[in-house]
Amino acid sequence: MPIDGRAAILAEPGKDAEIVDIVIDEPGAGEVRVKLHSSGVCHTDLTVKNLNGNGMAFPIVLGHEGAGYIDAVGEGVTHLAVGDPVVIAYRAPCGICPACSRGDLRRCYVALRPKQRITRKSDGALCSQVLRCGTFSTHTVVHSKAAIKMPSEMPLEKACLIACGVITGVGAALNTSPVFAGARVAVIGCGGVGLSAIQGAKIAHAKQIIAVDVNPVKLEWAREFGATHTVNARETDPVQAVRELTEDGYDGGVEFAFEATGIPMCTEQAVKMLAYGGTATTIGFPASTDAVNLNLGDMATGVYWNKAALRVCHCGDTLPSVDFPLLADLYLKGELLLDQMVTKEIGLEDVEAAFHEMETGNVIRSVIRF
Ligand SMILES: NC(=O)c1ccc[n+]([C@@H]2O[C@H](COP(=O)([O-])OP(=O)(O)OC[C@H]3O[C@@H](n4cnc5c(N)ncnc54)[C@H](O)[C@@H]3O)[C@@H](O)[C@H]2O)c1
Ligand SMILES: [Zn+2]
Ligand SMILES: [Zn+2]
Repeated sequence: MPIDGRAAILAEPGKDAEIVDIVIDEPGAGEVRVKLHSSGVCHTDLTVKNLNGNGMAFPIVLGHEGAGYIDAVGEGVTHLAVGDPVVIAYRAPCGICPACSRGDLRRCYVALRPKQRITRKSDGALCSQVLRCGTFSTHTVVHSKAAIKMPSEMPLEKACLIACGVITGVGAALNTSPVFAGARVAVIGCGGVGLSAIQGAKIAHAKQIIAVDVNPVKLEWAREFGATHTVNARETDPVQAVRELTEDGYDGGVEFAFEATGIPMCTEQAVKMLAYGGTATTIGFPASTDAVNLNLGDMATGVYWNKAALRVCHCGDTLPSVDFPLLADLYLKGELLLDQMVTKEIGLEDVEAAFHEMETGNVIRSVIRF
């Protein structure tokens, strides 16, 4: 049966998120309906708002870092049952694209999506869901393979963070650009994603982890999450500072640099702070006109002479069915910090305030509790 709920939606370009009544239909074949327990507020939700929907049709249900309980299962779904605790993944592999066909599910071109099953109650308008999720909502419908079962002892207000920020950062360092034991690592931007990249580098036994941010509070937190050194990019040139901290008789530099700000200049910095043969990874969400300028021929930092690589991380190249339970297990063993990432628990009506704080304040993650 269709049920009534409430969601934070973007009704049209340029408008703030608003809380509206919605109707959530039954899940179709291969889909599940989830009653949300909590949802993290990721910078990408704010970016979708700032980019006027980024190509999605309005109205748009925001949110993509959600955890909750299965509320109804569609035809043919046998691996989940009503009441199961789940985290919602936005990149469940399709199984048929060129990457999936060759068995490389982590590099899937497209993700499984549900049919649109949420409508705005006032006018029946069919809603889009950010990244196929739409978790700033009391309920949502997702593909059943995108609902990943959690162990019963896993607190869902922490588990929700795994869905995007945590898997993106940890996965960047473990899957996209696997950090080797003893490597030197720099992470530019220490929000939820960057702090998770720091945790990933620590899990991989990096020898040096240099955190770069413009906010001193974020840098303090970065140390708690495993950074061995910090650089305030507002006070000093981060490229030079990282090279000095890693001086090894060959001009220093890191084997791995991760950009987690969404600022093009920071991707350029990541490339320029590499040691010979190093890999920079860009994670931040770009606008369609964003561009970087990479020098090829400079003898010290040019991409050619420094033999630099640049990779792009989408959601930590995750295979959610494997990675999400693994991260839950690491959390339960005390090897992955999640409690410290929840700066604030908020209500659905506080989404706009959370966006504002993300840009101006000292928050890692605000988590909506339903
Ligand atoms: N590729 C993906 O799959 C993926 C997944 C999740 C998020 N993202 C994107 O990653 C980025 C980070 O997300 P988040 O949720 O951690 O954001 P956030 O806003 O919590 O963190 C960004 C951090 O960057 C810092 N910063 C700002 N300017 C800086 C500068 N010049 N130098 C160094 N640090 C600076 C801020 O102080 C803040 O700590 C966003 O662009 C987001 O959209 C991408
Ligand atoms: Zn695929
Ligand atoms: Zn996100």
